[in-house]
Amino acid sequence: MINIDKIQTIKQDDSVIIICNQENINKLSESILSKAQCEFIKQEYADKDSVHFSFNNLNRYILVDVIKECGTNYQDKEKYRRLGAKTLQLCDNNNIKDLQMISLCEKDMLIGFIEGMILASYVFDNYKTDHKRLIHPFDNLHICDKDITKEDLDKLRIIFEATEKCRDLINEPVTVINATTLAENIRAMAEETGMKCEIWDKAKIEKEKMGGILAVNKGSKEPPTFTIVEYKPEKHLNSRPIVLVGKGIVYDTGGLNIKTGNYMNDMKDDMSGAATMATTMYACARLNVPIHIIGLFPATDNRPGENAYASGDIINMYDGTNVEVVNTDAEGRMILADALAFAKQYNPSLVIDAATLTGAAQRAIGPFGIVAVQQDAEHFIEVMKTCGKRVYERIAEFPFWEEYDDCIKSEIADIKNSGESYAGMITAGKFLAYFTNYPYIHLDIAGVSFTNKKDAYNRLHATGFGVRLLVEFLSTYHK
Ligand code: BES
Ligand code: MG
Ligand code: ZN
Repeated sequence: MINIDKIQTIKQDDSVIIICNQENINKLSESILSKAQCEFIKQEYADKDSVHFSFNNLNRYILVDVIKECGTNYQDKEKYRRLGAKTLQLCDNNNIKDLQMISLCEKDMLIGFIEGMILASYVFDNYKTDHKRLIHPFDNLHICDKDITKEDLDKLRIIFEATEKCRDLINEPVTVINATTLAENIRAMAEETGMKCEIWDKAKIEKEKMGGILAVNKGSKEPPTFTIVEYKPEKHLNSRPIVLVGKGIVYDTGGLNIKTGNYMNDMKDDMSGAATMATTMYACARLNVPIHIIGLFPATDNRPGENAYASGDIINMYDGTNVEVVNTDAEGRMILADALAFAKQYNPSLVIDAATLTGAAQRAIGPFGIVAVQQDAEHFIEVMKTCGKRVYERIAEFPFWEEYDDCIKSEIADIKNSGESYAGMITAGKFLAYFTNYPYIHLDIAGVSFTNKKDAYNRLHATGFGVRLLVEFLSTYHK
């Protein structure tokens, strides 16, 4: 993890980066640059969108980024995040491990830049025996700026550390993160931050008749878990809790409806929802967010072992609903349904789930955002959309018309676990909503949680997408 601190003066011998917006270009001369360097920058800059300069003074680099955007809108801020990520890459390439920073930009834009830099510094190299890669590419960022506070930097660090944990949990293969170790990892985060945590084992899940979780687990040699976390700060603003539910399929083979071709490749990421929700709570607890939150984490792998559940099975769920299984690969909704029904007892003001639920969500909007549906939560989702723009983890709300309810009607049971060939991300949401009686938002993160293309501050593989969104939402929604 990068160490970030605030400094009062710039040290002569260490490398520096200056970020400057167009408006402040004349102030560059007041920084550490020579007159000639300033003139050179102004000339080169002319009408370009942004320009990067690098002055190499032997062992000291002076990097300058001049950015056209002076504004404070969310698209501008994202440009700063991406520039921060680019800068991290540059430091990595030039073996710069220590960097001082001067900002001639809006404070919020500076925060974006730092955020991009630290998010991009993530490496998952637990399995690289080449020790060169085990060395962190970057160590220290010293910010010389009068506006930025220690609280700003602490917040950035805590949210980054939560995102980092989220990415790690997702990137670990199922041989390391199974239902039991996922629960243990969640408990470790709870213990570290003083949250209550209870882990149900298979016997308890059987006793409570969580039929959905047990059905999906039937083909597996590993037992399932159901984890309950409670964060209840002494002073909380909500009289009724917010419940976060995360899909914890630690590996999705599809079950007997086995995934073919390369569709199974990244399915260790199918517990991303659980990782996102658990690390969101971890961040909220560390930030002392004044909100009462409960986290529910059903977990199992989905395998086609001997006694695996099969198409045609009728599963009696936790709340008594009978579900006709028409596809064992629609397993996420089976385990989430039990958790959502369980959530009713809390009389929640809002329940949000995050799940890598459907390929349909991924196909609909690609890797650029979360597909969401909601029921009785119009106000909350509007707030969440605003938060999404702010942190650039955007949400596309899909319709939740009543006609879609018909898609999951079953001839022989109450409902079936998959609908028509169209609108798969919506009918999956309809299935889940069947088990709710409270304001509800469903976030399908199948398109965003994992990537095979390195892009700016999202490294390869797990992105941690959703953590920054939900921390922002939970920190601001009550204001
Ligand atoms: N875990 C998958 C969804 C998924 C797909 C996540 C791609 C990430 C990337 C989920 O369990 C699944 O298999 N969904 C099926 C549902 C279908 C059988 C109704 C799908 O989307 O094909
Ligand atoms: Mg599946
Ligand atoms: Zn799945």
